[in-house]
Formats: sequence, structure tokens, C-alpha cells
Amino acid sequence: MITTCVLYASRYGTTRDIAQALARILGPARASPVEGFVPGAGTCEFVVIGTPIYGEVPDPGVMRFVEDHLQWLTQRKVALFTSSLAPDSKGRYRTSLCRLIGPSLVSGTSLGGRLDMASLETADRAAMEAFASTTHSSFNKADTLDWSVVAAWGLRLKGIRDSLGCRLDNAQVRAEVDRFLRSHNTCALATAGDAGARATPIEYVYAGDCLYFLSEGGAKFANLLLNPHVSVCIFDPYHTMADVAGLQLTGTARLVDLQDATANSVLHAQHLTREKLGQLPFDLNIIEVHLERAELLLSALSKRGVDSRQVYDFPRPS
Ligand SMILES: Cc1cc2nc3c(=O)[nH]c(=O)nc-3n(C[C@H](O)[C@H](O)[C@H](O)COP(=O)(O)O)c2cc1C
Repeated sequence: MITTCVLYASRYGTTRDIAQALARILGPARASPVEGFVPGAGTCEFVVIGTPIYGEVPDPGVMRFVEDHLQWLTQRKVALFTSSLAPDSKGRYRTSLCRLIGPSLVSGTSLGGRLDMASLETADRAAMEAFASTTHSSFNKADTLDWSVVAAWGLRLKGIRDSLGCRLDNAQVRAEVDRFLRSHNTCALATAGDAGARATPIEYVYAGDCLYFLSEGGAKFANLLLNPHVSVCIFDPYHTMADVAGLQLTGTARLVDLQDATANSVLHAQHLTREKLGQLPFDLNIIEVHLERAELLLSALSKRGVDSRQVYDFPRPS
């Protein structure tokens, strides 16, 4: 599995906090200050670099690190972010680093910053006071950091990271996903809405690009009424790292009319008939989840020389 290094410099903790949040999203990953970081041949395959902006330029320690380890960086894929109070939509704060890193750079972004005058060291406070007097502005505290932007970029990087691994071809990943789904029959179906986030243990039927669930009802239907987006998780009990096996799926749910043809095959698979349903003292409901993405983690795959983590995107319904 590809590992990631998130390397940063930070005077007052903002770039560090962003780097640590990104490392958690990108795991397996390590967040580390550039100072003291020793790159090695097998250290990591994907590198994220974060720098605060002071006086309109990146941190000198980050610049030095990139210059000193250019060869190591150019053998990897690199992403870059800046933390600054001013929005940097044109990316001018990172131009010098982008130029240095060159074609290895796969993504660059500007994230916000935070500033608390009370916690600044003397020289920084003096610089900020001088800046405030020339711009006729005054501020004690400023916060332009939007964590939802950090989360969205982290997920984008995760997509890039996943594409770098040793991948099975699409048909092979689908065959593995099919095999996993057919060799299990129970999952946790997660819904989210006004009833809160809810994971329901439930049996499933797998057919086509869909999972089907028979249910007498419950709080998940309150969530589905408001939000059709669901996640499904199926896994084997953990014994050792050598036999880890789990599948996370995302998809969109809808309710199936019991009179629909689709209902027949679901009932048949569950050894049920409409007559039997009619004898029940309550209604049964069928949920169909059209699958969108499967994220498979199978230790066994690494024995075949490919990543233990494989992602499959199901075809969009026409
Ligand atoms: C002396 C000083 C100079 C700064 N210069 C800039 C600047 O040129 N542009 C900007 O957008 N933000 C500037 N900032 C704000 C920082 O980039 C922001 O607070 C950042 O989040 C700090 O990151 P850190 O806590 O990881 O060091 C400056 C802050 C200080 C204290």
C-alpha cells in the first residue's frame, strides 16, 4: 500500500494542524516537520508539502528542504499547500515551489490561515503592526481557515494517491468485489439524516450493480426519507494483518415497489413469496442501493504483487 509523508513548517501551529488532518485522511501517512526529516529510498511514495506564508513568501525551511531533496522529490508524486490569511486564488505564493518541483507536482492549493496577535513573537508582532498601520487595518485575531476545504482537498489527494498504486485492471477489481460480495451475506448499512448517523446490521442480496435489503422498518427509513446516500461495510473478523479482508461501498438508495419485477428476484433469493408476505402481520420493505464505488482491502492481493487496496467505480445507471 502506498504510504504518504506530509511535510510542513509551522510557526504557530496552523500549517501543522492542517498537515496532521491531511495525514489522517491520507493514512497510511506520517505528518512531520521538514526540519529533521530524513528522506530515504523507501520512505514514502506520495509527498504532501505544506508551508505557511510570511511576508508573501513560503517558509525558508521548506524552500531549503525542496532544494536539498529535489532528486528524492522528483522520483515521487508531490502535492503542495500554502497556509495564508489572504486568499491566494492565483497561486502566486506557491509559484516558486511549483517551479522547483516541476512535473512531479500533481496538485497545489491555497488553504486559509489563522493569526492571534497575542501569541506572536516580538518580531512577528512588530511586522504585523507595521503591516496593519500601512493598510490602516487592525486585527487581534483572524481565521480564514475552512476545514471543509481542507477535507475536500484531502479526499482529492486520496483519489490521486489511490491511482498511484499497483492496480488490478477494472475487470479484475470487479471480479474481486463480486467474489467478496457473493461469499458474504450480512453487512452494516449506514444511513445519515435527522435520526443521526446509523449503522444497521442487515442481510443483503447482490444482483447487477445493486444491493437489496428486506426490512420491516426502523430509524434508517427516517434517514432515507431525507438522504438517499448510504455506505455499506462488509468485513471478516480480524486475526492478523496477513488476512485482513473488508469492503466499503457507497451508493444511492431507493425503495422498490413490491409489485415491481425487481421485487420477485429479491423475494426469491430470500426464499419468500408474495403469499408468505401476505401472511405477515406487518409490511416488508425492499431497499435497493445502486452501488457507486467499492473500496476493497484484501491482504491476499499483495501476494499477487498488487496493492492490497483496490477501488472500483460502478457504471452510472443510464
Ligand atoms: C509576520 C507575519 C507575516 C505574515 N505574512 C502574510 C502574508 O504575506 N500573506 C498572508 O496571506 N498571510 C500572512 N501571514 C499570516 C500567516 O500566513 C498565517 O497566520 C498562517 O496560518 C501561519 O501559519 P503557521 O501557524 O503554521 O505558522 C503573516 C503572519 C505573520 C505573523
